Amino acid sequence: MSRRFFVGGNFKMNLVVNSVTSIVTNLNTAQLDPSTEVVIAPPSLYLLLVRQLADSKIGVAAQNVFDKPNGAFTGELSVEQLRDAHIDWTIIGHSERRVVLKEDDDFVARKTKAAIDGGLSVILCIGESLDEREAERTIEIVTRQLNAVAECLSKNQWTKVVIAYEPIWAIGTGKVATTAQAQEAHAAIRKWLAEKISSESAENTRVIYGGSVSDGNCKDLAKQPDVDGFLVGGASLKPAFVDIVNSRI
Ligand code: G3H
Repeated sequence: MSRRFFVGGNFKMNLVVNSVTSIVTNLNTAQLDPSTEVVIAPPSLYLLLVRQLADSKIGVAAQNVFDKPNGAFTGELSVEQLRDAHIDWTIIGHSERRVVLKEDDDFVARKTKAAIDGGLSVILCIGESLDEREAERTIEIVTRQLNAVAECLSKNQWTKVVIAYEPIWAIGTGKVATTAQAQEAHAAIRKWLAEKISSESAENTRVIYGGSVSDGNCKDLAKQPDVDGFLVGGASLKPAFVDIVNSRI
């Protein structure tokens, strides 16, 4: 089975009602490659608005979800609430949460499990820091991050996961990974899937790249055999996002 190309737009903590409305309206009218799955992740305040505005062919993701059911957890959103709002996806483990909010591998894994158990699909973010890359620890770090999730999920739950490889040094820096660096990491992740989960999972799981993806660099990255799409930050707020969605045509 060939993997459907996947492009996510992570709006992060950007936009207000007017600008989010205009971005979604533009996406609705743009010519988007129908063979690409498109999922946008607005700030939680705008999830309902975006789900209401966006064409049904565009998926909507939360940027985070909590690992507990509804209850006394001030400031959090539950899986049930997302499902009730017709939000089918969530990002989990973004490095901005791992680094700034000190989310560790176990918490990321528990949230991934809760999300999938509750019926969501997950864009699971992993990736190394610049120090870790320079120390040639990239594969060790992403393997550690993936192993924590593998401890929690049953093997068949990996069908609900898109893995986003996002080297921290490439995020928001304009310093994109080279095609060789991206392909090497993605191939290692696929090897991990084959060895730890199953050959079927290695074949079918989308492994997407994030970190300074632009309309200028997306086409070359998209040609790499193990790059199945992108998680786009800054450029998802611009018209260039359409070119990234269409990077294979
Ligand atoms: O979630 C998206 C990534 O953090 C990439 O962000 O495209 O602004 O570098 P960026």
